[in-house]
Amino acid sequence: MAGDFKCNLAWCFLLWVSFVSVFAIGEYDGKSIVLATEMSSIPHKQARRKLDDVGGSISIDCGLPGELEYIDRETQIHYVSDSKYINTGRNHNISDKFISETLQETYENVRSFPEGKRNCYKLNHPEGRNTIYLIRASFMYGNYDGLNQLPKFNLYMGVNLWDSVTFKNSSHVVTKEILHVPVKDEIYVCLENTDMGTPFISALELRHFHNSSYRTKSGSLLLYQRLDFGSTTNKTVRFNEDSFDRIWLPYNLPEYYTPLSTSFAVDTTNKTEYELPSAVMKTAVTPRDSSSLEFQFETGDPTLEFYVYMHFAEIEELQENERREFNITVNGNLWHKSLIPNYLHSTTIFGEQSIRGSKLMFSMHKQQSSTLPPIINAIEIYIGKDFLQAPTDEEDG
Ligand SMILES: *[C@@H]1O[C@H](CO)[C@@H](O)[C@H](O)[C@H]1NC(C)=O
Ligand SMILES: *[C@@H]1O[C@H](CO)[C@@H](O)[C@H](O)[C@H]1NC(C)=O
Ligand SMILES: *[C@@H]1O[C@H](CO)[C@@H](O)[C@H](O)[C@H]1NC(C)=O
Ligand SMILES: *[C@@H]1O[C@H](CO)[C@@H](O)[C@H](O)[C@H]1NC(C)=O
Ligand SMILES: *[C@@H]1O[C@H](CO)[C@@H](O)[C@H](O)[C@H]1NC(C)=O
Ligand SMILES: *[C@@H]1O[C@H](CO)[C@@H](O)[C@H](O)[C@H]1NC(C)=O
Repeated sequence: MAGDFKCNLAWCFLLWVSFVSVFAIGEYDGKSIVLATEMSSIPHKQARRKLDDVGGSISIDCGLPGELEYIDRETQIHYVSDSKYINTGRNHNISDKFISETLQETYENVRSFPEGKRNCYKLNHPEGRNTIYLIRASFMYGNYDGLNQLPKFNLYMGVNLWDSVTFKNSSHVVTKEILHVPVKDEIYVCLENTDMGTPFISALELRHFHNSSYRTKSGSLLLYQRLDFGSTTNKTVRFNEDSFDRIWLPYNLPEYYTPLSTSFAVDTTNKTEYELPSAVMKTAVTPRDSSSLEFQFETGDPTLEFYVYMHFAEIEELQENERREFNITVNGNLWHKSLIPNYLHSTTIFGEQSIRGSKLMFSMHKQQSSTLPPIINAIEIYIGKDFLQAPTDEEDG
């Protein structure tokens, strides 16, 4: 399903996002589950040191044959083959037609599952249970089977339906990401055949987060949007600029706004618990001819519960007679009464309460005492999801 993102007053634009609004808890078919083999320890190579520093990670290039491993030329992330995490399925290369200089290596091969209704990867999370992990599954069809037919299948986290996976075309990269606090010692990521083509997967990644960030009352958080406003490079930002390997999409608006940026780093000496990448925080947007910054997302589903994290940092060196102060409202309700961003230091505004609505309308209004219009550097929007944490999901087959 597509949601569009546009503004009302200050500026207008559209953004297609792929997410699925059906999050029913699926039936568990214990008989069809395929157990993965025991996982052995991952080799520790220097390229992974920084990810390891934040508490360990797993980076799997699904469908990479045997015991192969490599360091990705772009991200310097150390990927390993999936042979230790699953013992079903088949390796395939995608069609040469889709391989290019710019295509990330993880998409060059896939593991497909022509047999069984459900096939599961078993991940032993390196930092144990009751702490927060980012889990990201990525898919690109690339006509790996020569059939030129886009499959459609379901992705599960253990017994819980996480999302369904659909493609617009053969080179469409679909990424599903979730922030999840496991209560058990392993995480099962499963692909379910829904009789609409053979399930497959390109990459599976697990990252450990700082314990205190991204906590909600509800269970897990499905990523809806993670945007880097005012990007000067038009490039996505991830590891190693982002030590948690969140992926930030550049967002530039064509008119009615001014991108701002600084050559100084943000949060160099004093990181917040969110450990925001300086590359994301050193750019922002501000309205050109308005004292309000307003934008909205068409979520298309009034029942979903959204959790929003807005990230601000002052990046202009203000004169003594200058001041930037604004309030923030969401769907017309006051969310934050007065925000004065700190110079080169991040502030994250997070709503404990979820927001519902077929639209999410964000407004930032300049306060009377303020001489400058509002800014915003980055935003993250998640969908809250309560997963059942069944005590014995994979064993009773
Ligand atoms: C996939 O591509 C690699 C590298 O080009 C090659 O070595 C391998 O034999 C190919 N595998 C299959 C199943 O075609
Ligand atoms: C993380 O925080 C929660 C709640 O504050 C606590 O129960 C849990 O033990 C913490 N986990 C770790 C690994 O510190
Ligand atoms: C494939 O789909 C993606 C996502 O909708 C789109 O950005 C891309 O331009 C499409 N590519 C082709 C070759 O149609
Ligand atoms: C970023 O993309 C926009 C829109 O496609 C383009 O106008 C702009 O020149 C690009 N900027 C850079 C630095 O590449
Ligand atoms: C460091 O961060 C804390 C909490 O985010 C903040 O209160 C403090 O002012 C910051 N110190 C400096 C020197 O920026
Ligand atoms: C936010 O600030 C604007 C400008 O001062 C004011 O008109 C508006 O009432 C404020 N919004 C809320 C909900 O307090």
